[in-house]
Amino acid sequence: MDHGIFFDEKEELFSIQMKTTTYIIGLANGYLGHIYYGSRINGLVGKESLRLNDYTFMNGEKKDKCTFMDSFPFEYGTAGIGDFRTAALSVRNEAGFSGVELKYISHNIYNGKKKLNGLPSTFGDEGDTTSLDILLSDTEGLIEVTLTYSIFKDSDILAKSVRVNNSSDQKLYIEKLMSSSVDMPYEGQEIITLHGSWARERAACRRDIGHGRIEISSKRGISSHQEHPFMAFAKPGTSENIGEVLGMCFVYSGNFLAEVERNQSDTLRANMGIGDYDFSWKLDPGETIDAPEVLLCYSTAGLGNMSREFHNVMRDHLIRSPYLHKKRPILINNWEATYFDFNEEKLLEIARQAKSCGIEMLVMDDGWFGKRDSDNCSLGDWVVDKRKLPDGLTGLCKKINDMGLDMGIWFEPEMISPDSDLYRAHPDWVIAIPGRENSECRSQFVLDLTRSEVREYVYECVAKVLRETNIKYVKWDMNRPLTDVGSTVTRGGEIHHRYMLGVYELMERLTSEFPDLLLENCSSGGGRFDAGMLYYSPQIWCSDDTDAMERLKIQEGTALIYPPSAIGAHVSICPNHLVGRTTDMTTRGYVALLGTFGYELDITKLSDEDKEIIKEQVADYHRFNDLIREGDYYRITSDGGLYTNYSVYHSYSWMFVSKDKKEALLTYVQERGTANMRPQQVKLVGLDPKKIYRLDDGRSFSGDELVHIGFVTDKLWGDGKGRLYHFVEE
Ligand code: DGJ
Repeated sequence: MDHGIFFDEKEELFSIQMKTTTYIIGLANGYLGHIYYGSRINGLVGKESLRLNDYTFMNGEKKDKCTFMDSFPFEYGTAGIGDFRTAALSVRNEAGFSGVELKYISHNIYNGKKKLNGLPSTFGDEGDTTSLDILLSDTEGLIEVTLTYSIFKDSDILAKSVRVNNSSDQKLYIEKLMSSSVDMPYEGQEIITLHGSWARERAACRRDIGHGRIEISSKRGISSHQEHPFMAFAKPGTSENIGEVLGMCFVYSGNFLAEVERNQSDTLRANMGIGDYDFSWKLDPGETIDAPEVLLCYSTAGLGNMSREFHNVMRDHLIRSPYLHKKRPILINNWEATYFDFNEEKLLEIARQAKSCGIEMLVMDDGWFGKRDSDNCSLGDWVVDKRKLPDGLTGLCKKINDMGLDMGIWFEPEMISPDSDLYRAHPDWVIAIPGRENSECRSQFVLDLTRSEVREYVYECVAKVLRETNIKYVKWDMNRPLTDVGSTVTRGGEIHHRYMLGVYELMERLTSEFPDLLLENCSSGGGRFDAGMLYYSPQIWCSDDTDAMERLKIQEGTALIYPPSAIGAHVSICPNHLVGRTTDMTTRGYVALLGTFGYELDITKLSDEDKEIIKEQVADYHRFNDLIREGDYYRITSDGGLYTNYSVYHSYSWMFVSKDKKEALLTYVQERGTANMRPQQVKLVGLDPKKIYRLDDGRSFSGDELVHIGFVTDKLWGDGKGRLYHFVEE
């Protein structure tokens, strides 16, 4: 069967055929069941695996519907009618009863892909994307549910989303709304998730799935540093380049729920969607709600292939920025250089010296507005602080531009300080439970972006600066979770999601009015690094931990799903401000090269020797960024916990290979030196075994040799040492 989506009318089966994988669902007496998701099946498939003969109910005997409901592999299981597994959808009616039973009504297969209302999602045109809508309706007419599936040419990604419509004449309350649900047999899979904390984001963690339910979620109003809207199910023995793994990634930036339940019959149900915590969405008759998209990838060639599939779909069908396929300006950010203690003179001195080293943009971070000499005040008062910048933003920007540099600026648009003119004028503009004392976090409150007048204010503050200056880049920061979630206008239970819709609306407006703006998202480092944000900004600040050795693990975890070209990475000063470690300047550059690349240090205090190294790093960036940004990423060795092919060498190494396999860059970093060890021999991946590759030092190797026998790295002396190896087809 070709790539595409097909309906077999006789068997009542839908088969979704991707590049190398197949997803099959089928109808049984109107119920939609999941049959298969795995490597490509081209032959005929029947309904046997729906196991209809297991249930007397399917032969017309009503007396035991319950057993059927609790075992049938529902494609979208609902709560209240006997399916005791964790539900994909739970709906309460006006009287407070919950129960929905969905049956098939119709379907539509079409080229292209529809947009989701107010939400980020993948896009595709009629030439490269095919979609399927399946309309299901409650047997008592309460609601209609449309399940949408989209696939992309040359891709193994399946995009799923859900639309719910209140088809009744009463108010309904949606209490759980998953975007994807997959019922599958338990075959010893382990679950892989990305766990972390502030400055320790996205460490891969792999564990067994016992009986009961595992929940990965965020209740913080952001996708969070702690858990990540991603989970994968790896069959036993799956490692970097072999084995089967099913990955799921959520295109959303707020509260989420990712869960898997292993039930009494040893089947798994894996759900992903908006977090059900503090969620209760009122739907009036005729109203609809869209659930955000989940991207699924079934890889039959290990975790590395899964990562590359996610990277490709995000680069080809999610990130819209005009910068996506461009070299981003090499920037220097003053945060770790000055924190709040800067003025125009200091910034101009940084800019001057940066320019002499080849840096292309100065980004002014937090502290330029109100009277913000610390994080205690002024958020919301987006008026330039003339004590620090006497000629205002326009004056500073002009001076920076006159030096030949572009300028970028920091905002935290979603926040308000209790000590601000804005708060004094509008104390009700915050997320707070009326009548309760509100909790401060970093001395700030969250603006109630569910309200249109608040969004209007925020938007105009940012847009005014961009209209009046030649600022080319905005770092959009967000530095606290949502607590005390209430509002003077918005219903409880809806605030979290409406808040996210408000943030998305602002970003959509900003990138529409300023299409050439380079927007970088940030949330106390990487607290909102997710596929939702990538729809609006081509890059996201990965972590406040800029220590190169720590970054090895953080960036590796992030690149498990996200393309390296989206990973905000800078060279910072040593000893590192968070961990006190000193690492070679050269190695710091190699690690930052994996991502967007830039600097976060006081260049005016660097030695001449370090400034010479910066010039070399800038040259490396220009030389290699096309390959890094557009190429395929391969993890070669790792000291992290994800791999079953864990190595005794404390090294991290990775490769970028051009799509035509003519060029490759291997980065090798020895995290920790070990006595009496020979240099490591690493097997390279992704090269064409038939090609001959020449290394920059003139040595030649066959692709065969590099792939099967390996490449002997240089002997490195000390901790945090690294090398770049650049291979070009001879
Ligand atoms: C958190 C960010 O991650 C930092 O890079 C910096 O912008 C600070 N906020 C400023 O408050």
